[in-house]
Amino acid sequence: MIRPAELIERKRDGGELTSEELTELILGHASGEIPDYQLAAFCMAVYFRGFSTGETYAMTDAMVRSGATLDLHGELGRRVVDKHSTGGVGDKTSILVGPVVAACGVPFGKMSGRGLGHTGGTLDKLESIPGFRVELSKEEFVAQVREVGLAIVGQSPDLVPADKRLYALRDVTGTVNSIPLIAASIMSKKIAAGADAIVLDVKVGAGAFMKSIEDARKLAEAMAQLGERAGRQVVALLTDMDQPLGWAIGNALEVEEARQTLAGAEAPPDLFSLTIQAAGRLVALSDLGVDEQEGIRRAEQAIESGSALEAYERWIEAQGGNPALEVLPRAPIVREVTSKGDGYVTEVSAMGLGRAALELGAGRRTKDDVIDHAVGIRCFAKRGDAVSHGQLLAELHVRDEDAAAWAAGQLGALIVLSDEPPPLRSIVLETIG
Ligand code: URA
Repeated sequence: MIRPAELIERKRDGGELTSEELTELILGHASGEIPDYQLAAFCMAVYFRGFSTGETYAMTDAMVRSGATLDLHGELGRRVVDKHSTGGVGDKTSILVGPVVAACGVPFGKMSGRGLGHTGGTLDKLESIPGFRVELSKEEFVAQVREVGLAIVGQSPDLVPADKRLYALRDVTGTVNSIPLIAASIMSKKIAAGADAIVLDVKVGAGAFMKSIEDARKLAEAMAQLGERAGRQVVALLTDMDQPLGWAIGNALEVEEARQTLAGAEAPPDLFSLTIQAAGRLVALSDLGVDEQEGIRRAEQAIESGSALEAYERWIEAQGGNPALEVLPRAPIVREVTSKGDGYVTEVSAMGLGRAALELGAGRRTKDDVIDHAVGIRCFAKRGDAVSHGQLLAELHVRDEDAAAWAAGQLGALIVLSDEPPPLRSIVLETIG
């Protein structure tokens, strides 16, 4: 029988825990036998002292074992793929990647999360589609991946209950931003949800958890190792989150942008490129036996041929939603913001725009806040663009004139112009795994 206080002290002093000790600690907390205050102190000790590779794996494994697990491979007799993003602004990539991959004939099964703070969550975005159900039973989830080729649902409550309790505690004790704790939290959920191959989109920059490429690399490597030890194939893309991804920020606006991109309409180049690269890698990790170049070619072809849009429509309908654009909620006021000068865009603040969208009602400050799915910002300015006086920079989709005036006032400081163009940077900064 462990003594939690002794484990806390050992970690505080830089010592290492055995996997048996970590398992007892995590499972004891999940079952309510070990109180929150001891886990809070333990997480703070980990925040400062870190974990060895073995400790991170032991924690992940204990979290997986705290609840049920899914064996999608066994259920479908196929390799099933999944994708996960560490969270960004305007990140609607999963809504595109799922249908693209499904259109290529690869089963895609994803359990997703909600947004908190300045970053949005895929479930909230999907819930802006009238009728769309994110809560499917495990049996419905598996059946839909088998029959439709694609399902994105909320995390099943009996999968990794230890993380649910621990994440809520970390969120209020300043211990979210620890690389081993994030890696264990994300990978326990991915492992329990049962996919064979996972593409991780690790966001880097001012609008992301990981502010530096070095930290993003450490997180990606930790997650790839955890996946591989659990018998999963993992590729991590480190992607730019200094500026928002795509143009749209806000739930219905992001669904519209995703659908329009799948329909072959003019699309933000960063969003299109990331979609193709993530989907192409998933196709290459599937049981189709193709390499990455061929995966990317098939992903592009799925959009060009319209088969990705068809997969999107089948998927949305299978989960009870109406895939038509016209039914998405719209804000009553759309205000345009134009450039007050000439120059090159050197900065588009992902953090600032994410927070502005949150203030307009597109996100939640606490987990009980109700989201306004219609509101948000479409920001057309991208780093490196040359803009001239009077050119359209953004559209504000808002409820009332006060909100429009407030948001227009914020935007001036969030989009920075200069006489010199900034160095160009591609959306995928590095690939690991
Ligand atoms: N997302 C998660 O699921 N867990 C973390 O710890 C951080 C981000």
